Amino acid sequence: MGNILQRIEWKERTEKLNDLLQKNVLSIEALEQGFEAEVMKLQNSDEEFVIKIWNKSANPNIGYQYFLLKALLERGIPVPKVFGWGWNKDGQQVLLTSFDGTQLTSFTENSMKEIGKILSTIHLIDAQGEFQFPTPDFIRHFFPDIHRHKDLEAILKTIMSAVKMRHDCLIHGDFHLQNIVEEGDRFTVIDWTNGQLGDSRYDFAWSRMLTKLYLSESLSVNFSMSYLEKHPIQMEEIKNFEAIAILRWLLLHRNGGVPIGNDTVERVLALISANSILKDHSVDEIQILG
Ligand SMILES: Nc1ncnc2c1ncn2[C@@H]1O[C@H](COP(=O)(O)OP(=O)(O)OP(=O)(O)O)[C@@H](O)[C@H]1O
Ligand SMILES: [Mg+2]
Repeated sequence: MGNILQRIEWKERTEKLNDLLQKNVLSIEALEQGFEAEVMKLQNSDEEFVIKIWNKSANPNIGYQYFLLKALLERGIPVPKVFGWGWNKDGQQVLLTSFDGTQLTSFTENSMKEIGKILSTIHLIDAQGEFQFPTPDFIRHFFPDIHRHKDLEAILKTIMSAVKMRHDCLIHGDFHLQNIVEEGDRFTVIDWTNGQLGDSRYDFAWSRMLTKLYLSESLSVNFSMSYLEKHPIQMEEIKNFEAIAILRWLLLHRNGGVPIGNDTVERVLALISANSILKDHSVDEIQILG
């Protein structure tokens, strides 16, 4: 087993990581092998850590993510503590953080309110300070292969011309319930690969739409009310951004990248019919599978 940390060329490291590098053995447990990264839990006698190793093809900027997480923690946002980042011998980027608990298994009114409040706090951070957030183009980042789906592209273009996309706020970029872990009564927001300067209305709408789709309308109301109390958005804007979020989900679905339960397709069709922008497009126009 040895110590996997000793085989990494660290670009930044904290005192804590220097201590860990002195240990001979750390136990390793796989947490998840995702599309873009492998995530493992490391343990010594009394502490737990998470190591995330990105596929070479993913190639995100982990040096940036290291400093982003540090900056967020300093601003009181509940994110993992970072201990180091670097490269392994296979040329893959590696990030070492704290282990912050397990995925949520039950969702209550109070937990959804707390999660809504956390997202509003992220969006209220002063993003114009000393930290330079990346500002990718919205379509290129969130809809990279939309040109292969002319039906979705046409609707997206119409909505995009009605909303003026902003780049004035730090957004998480993928704020869904598997990207939140809990330990006792403390939630931590993980997986900041898509953190960027963007439009808070999109970040909120994506999260709200996924809550409606995978949990329930009433839990999504708890989440939304608590978010909107601190960060109001007009209903018409919410509908526009919900339509954008549904289009993104459809695109990811066509690429096989979203969880599908027994009733997911039925529920997404219900979301389309209830959305005042999308309901005007016939079901023939918006094919679930394209
Ligand atoms: N700091 C942490 N504390 C506890 N568990 C974590 C932590 N970071 C990651 N995990 C666990 O590992 C899983 C995958 O991690 P993460 O969400 O960062 O990667 P991913 O979704 O596979 O990656 P990506 O979206 O970048 O491809 C999480 O859902 C969570 O269960
Ligand atoms: Mg994740």
